[in-house]
Amino acid sequence: MGVTVRAQPSASEGYPGQGSNSSQGLRETPANTRLLKACRREPADCTPVWLMRQAGRYMAEYRRLREKYTILQLIKTPELAVEVTLQPISAFDLDAAIIFADILPPLEAMGLSLDFIRGEGPVIHNPLRSEADVAALRVPDPRDRLGFTIEAIRLARRELNERIPLIGFSGAPFTLASYAIEGGATRNYVMTKRMMYNQPQAWQALMDKLADMVGEYLKAQAEAGAQVVQFFDSWAGALSPADYRRYVLPYSRRAIQAAQSSGAPVIHFSTETAGILELIKEAGGDVIGVDWRVNLADAWRRLGDGVAIQGNLDPVALFAPLSELEQQVDHILGQADGRPGHIFNLGHGILPQTPVEHVAALVDMVQELSAVK
Ligand code: CP3
Repeated sequence: MGVTVRAQPSASEGYPGQGSNSSQGLRETPANTRLLKACRREPADCTPVWLMRQAGRYMAEYRRLREKYTILQLIKTPELAVEVTLQPISAFDLDAAIIFADILPPLEAMGLSLDFIRGEGPVIHNPLRSEADVAALRVPDPRDRLGFTIEAIRLARRELNERIPLIGFSGAPFTLASYAIEGGATRNYVMTKRMMYNQPQAWQALMDKLADMVGEYLKAQAEAGAQVVQFFDSWAGALSPADYRRYVLPYSRRAIQAAQSSGAPVIHFSTETAGILELIKEAGGDVIGVDWRVNLADAWRRLGDGVAIQGNLDPVALFAPLSELEQQVDHILGQADGRPGHIFNLGHGILPQTPVEHVAALVDMVQELSAVK
């Protein structure tokens, strides 16, 4: 099948001729410009590839650290967060690092009590139910209350030494609101939508606070050195087009505009949003994420040339034999058809049981099959 797995220099080796660890004076290489060029819809030597949740349980190195530390300890200790951030970078030829964190610590910073329970996922012990609960939420300076992630970004930039760019991220107001109100994951978003429909003032106040928090948090991450930021609206697909427009879009737009004022490009990610892609674009972003339920060529027709597109391999395709995986990669690259402004990614995060060798092979396939001859 003609795709080989290459050995990678470790993240700490750096490259000859690269001077100091300063984040200034970027020395341009194909690898450190691919993602940024794609965000600007400029042609690059090949399609940049990174994977959502590229650091995580499918890697033995991550599982070993998790035997000693909880996920919140990893996130809140900048040196450990950087170590995890770099694990997939040492293992695979990825075109970007994403800072290791989670979308939920900002809710803790705002006054909610957050836990990750093994086998269950995230839990908020004091979920929002009333207007008074919303009124009690703080909107702190993220540089202060989320300083561990801001510091991790500074350290990670230094460690990456301009080899590849660093991505920062935040949850979007709607996705964060759903955790804050439901207290955890949900299937039908009944409590979230109940507040939206029945307590419009509480909803508006909550989304106002979340939009301010998210915008400022993304700005702070860009100021600390994140060269691109991703806005995760993972659950926006739960909404009808009319509800998305009325109850979510204005707040997402405000947060994205605040983030863009830093100069960093914004990737607007969501899933199951084939029915509202145009609205996702209207809410903003330099790059629009699409999942595997959408044909990439159709997505381009609908979104137009004014935005770049990120996606859209089904994360479960990584469980297929390599020959099938290669066909799927080739199919996606065929739909992108060499248009500048394609970032290859999964349509959602990588799953814990994913075979590591298939991740390595995927990254190499994308770069080899998309290389400009
Ligand atoms: O992409 C990366 O590598 C950066 C790290 C990252 C994590 N979470 C680490 C993590 C990112 C970008 C996230 C985003 C996130 N977190 C989202 C949005 C993206 C998506 O997948 O939709 C959401 C909805 C969350 C909330 C969250 N965090 C859930 C639902 C869970 C539990 C999932 C599970 O499988 O247990 C988490 C925990 C979490 N966040 C893990 C990781 C690596 C697994 C925790 C562990 O080590 O046990």
